[in-house]
Amino acid sequence: MLSKNVGLREDHLAVIILDQSALPNTTNYLELETAEQMYEAIQTLKIRGAPAIGICAGYCLYVLAVHSARGSFNYIRFYKELQQYADYLAAARPTAVNLSWALNRMLRQVKQNPDLSLPNLLHLLYDEALQIHKEDIAMCQAISQYGLQLLHDGMGILTHCNAGPLATSRYGTALGPLLLAKERGMELRVFADETRPLLQGARLTTYELQQAGIDVTLICDNMAAQVMKNGWVDACFVGCDRVAMNGDTANKIGTSGIAILAKYYNIPFYVLGPSSTIDYACNSGEEIVIELRDPQEIREKFYKQPMAPTDVKCYNPAFDVTNHELITAIITEKGICRPPFCQSLATLFE
Ligand code: MRU
Repeated sequence: MLSKNVGLREDHLAVIILDQSALPNTTNYLELETAEQMYEAIQTLKIRGAPAIGICAGYCLYVLAVHSARGSFNYIRFYKELQQYADYLAAARPTAVNLSWALNRMLRQVKQNPDLSLPNLLHLLYDEALQIHKEDIAMCQAISQYGLQLLHDGMGILTHCNAGPLATSRYGTALGPLLLAKERGMELRVFADETRPLLQGARLTTYELQQAGIDVTLICDNMAAQVMKNGWVDACFVGCDRVAMNGDTANKIGTSGIAILAKYYNIPFYVLGPSSTIDYACNSGEEIVIELRDPQEIREKFYKQPMAPTDVKCYNPAFDVTNHELITAIITEKGICRPPFCQSLATLFE
């Protein structure tokens, strides 16, 4: 496997993922063979983080193509079947654009080559899935290098959710520069929001940073203002799930609150993400569909017993949109975009 979180089984009949929902207590690998298993793994965040979902989706469509190529081959039927699988998987999580982006890349290979034999089509799909994975490794490496320019020894960084190697391929986006800084001998103090309700910050970010030997302190989401007021935060580094062309950014629920606090305390707020997370068809955050999740995640998940009346109404959006006016810069693999983002993003990604 190119990275430890996602890859192909040797016989190419299953996608292998590291089950992130069981971390940090259990390191468990799962094999996904059917579309239903793949959908469930994405929907329940066994594989999560926008880039990792995209990489996984590429492998999923390839594996499903290998399975559906087992009967007699008919190009139109083959393409239609893959299209149906792609639509099905894309519905597992609507906000992170990387999912539909990767599925569309895979489908395009089949659409553009109606005259190829089945073995050649499968080869193309395999290469494309691998390419999506390799590109992510390279993009995260470049993002980490650019992000490093914003850091210096002794800085305090606040991060939200998890945008490390688990959420991507090998380096991470928001955590990439921090890991690189550590490799270069820089000492940072990182504050990780626990990230209610699914605790990606507590379970995954602290785990990844501790493993790297970085000084990390876990805080509840509602403690960020206090930590900022104490003067402990010099910059905020967060990932992204979909960036509109005006810079509005969807990321894990709670991100926009952190950005508002950062503005109040005059702390730079950086969004880090690869071009696969930029939605060129989306003009502003207004157009971004926000995933709504099961109330059970708020009422009882992770508690020994329900911590709210079992029938209490809950609102459980998985993401929010941070207004571009609150973002100091968006760090991509091609460079650092500064406001006005409608110009800087368009120039970098023409
Ligand atoms: O619901 P999740 O855990 O998939 O949400 C993840 C995030 O919001 C991350 O910050 C984002 O995907 C960037 S990961 C490099």
